[in-house]
Amino acid sequence: YFLGIDSSTTATKAILIDKSGKILGVAASEYAYETPHPLWSEQDPQLWWTAAVASIRQVVKEAGVDPAKVAGIGLTGQMHGLVILDQDGQVLRPAILWNDQRTQRQCDAIREVVGKAEFIQITGNDALTGFTAPKILWVRDEEPQIYEKIRHVLLPKDYLRFKLTGDYAVDRAGGSGTVLFDLKKRDWSDDLIQQLGMQRDWFPPTFEGTEVTGSLSKAAADETGLRADIPVFGGGGDQSAAAVGTGAVEEGILSISLGTSGVVFATADSPFIEELGRLHAFCHAVPGKWHLMGVMLSAAGSLRWFRETFCPELSYDEIVARAIQTPKGSQGLLFMPYLTGERTPYPDPLARGGFVGATVRHTFADFARSVLEGVAFGLRDSYELMRSAGLGQIDHVRITGGGARNPNWLQIIADILDTSIFTVDSKEGAAFGAAVLAASGAGAFPSVEQACQTVIHRVGEVKPSQDAAKYNELYARYRELYPALKDTFH
Ligand code: XUL
Repeated sequence: YFLGIDSSTTATKAILIDKSGKILGVAASEYAYETPHPLWSEQDPQLWWTAAVASIRQVVKEAGVDPAKVAGIGLTGQMHGLVILDQDGQVLRPAILWNDQRTQRQCDAIREVVGKAEFIQITGNDALTGFTAPKILWVRDEEPQIYEKIRHVLLPKDYLRFKLTGDYAVDRAGGSGTVLFDLKKRDWSDDLIQQLGMQRDWFPPTFEGTEVTGSLSKAAADETGLRADIPVFGGGGDQSAAAVGTGAVEEGILSISLGTSGVVFATADSPFIEELGRLHAFCHAVPGKWHLMGVMLSAAGSLRWFRETFCPELSYDEIVARAIQTPKGSQGLLFMPYLTGERTPYPDPLARGGFVGATVRHTFADFARSVLEGVAFGLRDSYELMRSAGLGQIDHVRITGGGARNPNWLQIIADILDTSIFTVDSKEGAAFGAAVLAASGAGAFPSVEQACQTVIHRVGEVKPSQDAAKYNELYARYRELYPALKDTFH
């Protein structure tokens, strides 16, 4: 058996699979994150460990398997979070998470010191507030007494790895999300680290997703109830592990994840970058592959906000059912989904949402529909960037995530992207992907690609409707909104 562990912003989940990829059980323990100041987002790393131990124990117990037969662990988790440790491996301050937006000044400093074009050439990415590198500079600028004590830099998932094995190590998918990687080399950029005044020895050795990074320590075995010495595999950042979990591991497959955030993801056989850094370019958790990704921050999160604010008495399905009573285009009402700032295509933490074009004729249904359409327009922004980035042909688009469960919303997305969209039978996303990486690394499958072909299947298809082109004009108007309103947000 193999365990996949996903340490996310809201819960740490453990999934158990057998060597054929069949899911035997899932368990999760939840926790919260703190926002001590506007734009801040932090978490105590101890929460992840406590939750991981509880989830591992629960899933093994509920699946009724002999814990001694668990043969390997794959790790995944929230990306970009900064965990800093002192020389004794003690956590120096709460982790600064991926959705923390405090580092604009440090991003500007990076662009200044390294040069924006140069930085994109090395790392594949622009310096954005959510990424790890500017967070380290923030600690340097604002908490110098803590900065002085830094001896190890880890990501959230790799803090769990440290607790499991005692080793400092990071997978390459997660590592590239620090934007301190030389993307082509799939390893730390010594040059960049030096230019930014950081110490090279803070950064641990890097591993592919299917490589063994260490083995379970005696202490961790006692806490989790597992056997000491089982291998812990590299795994990957949550987006690339989720791509493994949904089979988006080969060029030509474009995958959309419609969760709180919305992610448009494509695998590349070479280190592709979008020259202005509008798409993220990271290492894939699949050995030797890379990926491009567009991230919108409030996707299904926009619908959740709408429901909680205006109609908590309705279910999501009821809201969508009301929305589709009004025609395509919500009678000209447009929704901007930038409720928590934006990343792709506008890297702007201060971007704001809005409804534009309201008249006395608009009803609840128009407002609801415009939210569904506005999110789909946001996904189309990333999709268009992906299509023009020079990747090969996109053979098919697949969709996963909580928002993908509603067929009417899927129809709106298929229409707005003007493409067929497939659903797959894999539902556990990143945790499942981490387990598949471990199983592949242990030799249960010949490769990650073959594992995905064996265990993940397409189950449904939504085709664009006949009059989908109606959306083009509305999309053109949507495109004009952010540039026109940008100055009013700042
Ligand atoms: C990816 C990203 C998020 C976090 C959240 O770039 O920021 O997916 O990893 O889990």
